[in-house]
Amino acid sequence: MIEDFTYYTPTKVVFGRGAENKTGALVAELGCKKVLLHYGGGSAERTGLLGRIRESLREAGVGFAELGGVVPNPRLSLVREGIELCLRERADFILAVGGGSVIDSAKAIGYGAADEERGDVWDFYARTRVPRACLPVGAVLTISAAGSEMSASSVITNEETETKRGYGNDISRPKFAVMNPELTMTLPAYQTACGCTDILMHTMERWFGGGGNMELTDGMAAALMRTVMRNARILMEKPGDYDARAEVMWAGSLSHNGLTGCGTDGGDWATHQLEHEIGAIFDVAHGAGLAAVWGSWARYVYKENPARFAKFAEEVMCVARRATDEETALAGIAAMEDFYREIKMPTTIRGLGIEPTEAQLKEMAEKCESKFEGGVGTMKKLFAPDMEKIYRAAM
Ligand code: NZQ
Ligand code: ZN
Repeated sequence: MIEDFTYYTPTKVVFGRGAENKTGALVAELGCKKVLLHYGGGSAERTGLLGRIRESLREAGVGFAELGGVVPNPRLSLVREGIELCLRERADFILAVGGGSVIDSAKAIGYGAADEERGDVWDFYARTRVPRACLPVGAVLTISAAGSEMSASSVITNEETETKRGYGNDISRPKFAVMNPELTMTLPAYQTACGCTDILMHTMERWFGGGGNMELTDGMAAALMRTVMRNARILMEKPGDYDARAEVMWAGSLSHNGLTGCGTDGGDWATHQLEHEIGAIFDVAHGAGLAAVWGSWARYVYKENPARFAKFAEEVMCVARRATDEETALAGIAAMEDFYREIKMPTTIRGLGIEPTEAQLKEMAEKCESKFEGGVGTMKKLFAPDMEKIYRAAM
């Protein structure tokens, strides 16, 4: 059965070599005059990218104030600082130069700066209020991973409560995404692999939902996942391969702009929720955290729909059909974990270099359950005791 859907992708994509030099003109085209230039911990400065962006803004006659220092699993405290700065500087646009963390931080600043009630921006992530507006955001992408450059969502960590929360609203979708695959060539191999894992997972979450599917969507989803795996392998050997960088970069955006979920129930997303709890306490890289728990989640739920897992095994992992759907499903899960190991991603929680205590596993499961009424996931509704078992199996 094909589910009804709304597909909305308002982001203008400017893709290719030197694309970052068009950034100033893209902001000016939107009629914006003062930008908050937002970036991370240093890579964009070191590579000279920020210099080129500043130049491009000056050439287009766009003023700017700057706020760097975004860290992976972006923090609420910096978001609050960004909101103050935006208001003080009367910024009318937020330009994120970086990856998912910087773009997510920019979206959160956008909500806060446009909030006429002047309340706490965390309310939106805690879901006690709904934002009515968001300052326009644009992205210059430096890592293919989160897909935030075209997505409606942003994920922020409240460091005081060790809580990581995602929030999605179409009003935060970036106005434009500048994507030059060359910019990702300076990434450490580990970050490239984390990114490829996250890209795969955004389509896998949609593939393994509890609702309908669409032949066309399945075909695009399978092609996207096979493309990411093929090119991730190339990048492990040749990090400077432009075509492989380009394939992965475009896949990253399409994997999370809704395309690979059209006609489904929107997806399962339990693996993401399980990972967010690990990231909130242990500050691990998001992609690595997903790889660490996915196999245990999959083995816990595959009996809900063995045929769907078997289709994944055959069409995505290219595994030969076994005697039963269940056997094919398990072979597909094992093949995915083999791929993670091949690109040096962990397939256990200990593989992340952390050792959560029993009390912490329980805490993570309880916090995860508390985010949603009626259970987490759609393939199988998970509650705290289920999630504890999955975490334990993943140890
Ligand atoms: O801070 P710098 O120095 O730039 O270093 C970053 C960071 O340490 C580095 N990096 C980025 N581009 C680089 C580079 N290093 C060298 N050369 C470059 N070109 O890479 C590290 C990771 O960056 P980050 O932005 O954290 O990566 P990613 O894009 O994976 O974002 C992860 C965040 O996105 C959230 C995750 O939970 C996590 O907080 N997600 C956001 C989503 C969304 N908004 O739709 C969906 C995802 O599922 C995800 O949850
Ligand atoms: Zn993700």
